[in-house]
Amino acid sequence: MDHMLTFAPLDVDEHRDFLFAAHRETSRLTFGTEFTDEQIEREIEKERGVSTGAFLDGKIVGICDLETREIGGAEAGWVHFFYLTPELRGRGFGAQLVRYAGEYCRKNGLDKLYLRVGAPNTDAYWFYERCGFVRAPELDRVGADSVKPRRPIVEEDGSHTSSSLLFSADQSVGPMSGMRTGDAGEYGFVKSINQE
Ligand SMILES: CC(C)(COP(=O)(O)OP(=O)(O)OC[C@H]1O[C@@H](n2cnc3c(N)ncnc32)[C@H](O)[C@@H]1OP(=O)(O)O)[C@@H](O)C(=O)NCCC(=O)NCCS
Repeated sequence: MDHMLTFAPLDVDEHRDFLFAAHRETSRLTFGTEFTDEQIEREIEKERGVSTGAFLDGKIVGICDLETREIGGAEAGWVHFFYLTPELRGRGFGAQLVRYAGEYCRKNGLDKLYLRVGAPNTDAYWFYERCGFVRAPELDRVGADSVKPRRPIVEEDGSHTSSSLLFSADQSVGPMSGMRTGDAGEYGFVKSINQE
């Protein structure tokens, strides 16, 4: 780890180009198709006043969009959007976004941090697992057209994974209301937050 990120409220007008690039890439990773400019505009408007930017040496490099939601009858942290600029990936900065979200939960007395990952975004499954998340099937949004997640069973170094991620080979992917045709589906994940 060479540097620490700093976090500050995101000015969506100042960082419009960065947000556009972020949503363009992430929509492709998450849903398998890129959002149109109009859809991205809508996403950016939702971020106005609620999103946090991650900065390195004063330059925007990431987005951390968090809120508190009621999930399963209790208040919990919810990640709308995590994003790190491609040039900095694989150097521990993404883990700093997760740490920031953990601090948000601790400050707000929330024991759990939830999110959904688009079914095609298998890289993100690995990332979240490494950062302490496990599957939360109760939050899955899967339908008839969902992409069934397949995770590698061999680590990059060739050793077999001892993964705790629970995508079993026979996981049923049944129809669910509210899904559009062609929707790849999303899978729920949760991390327990140590309140100390
Ligand atoms: C997801 C994202 C934030 C991760 O950021 P990152 O800086 O690359 O992640 P880090 O370098 O901090 O990785 C943290 C851990 O995850 C692991 N990891 C990250 N990506 C991985 C991958 N594709 N395969 C295997 N492990 C991976 C790292 O090896 C590291 O593990 P370690 O602590 O055991 O060394 C970044 O890739 C990103 O912005 N992606 C595009 C947007 C996106 O998909 N967002 C998530 C939407 S739900």
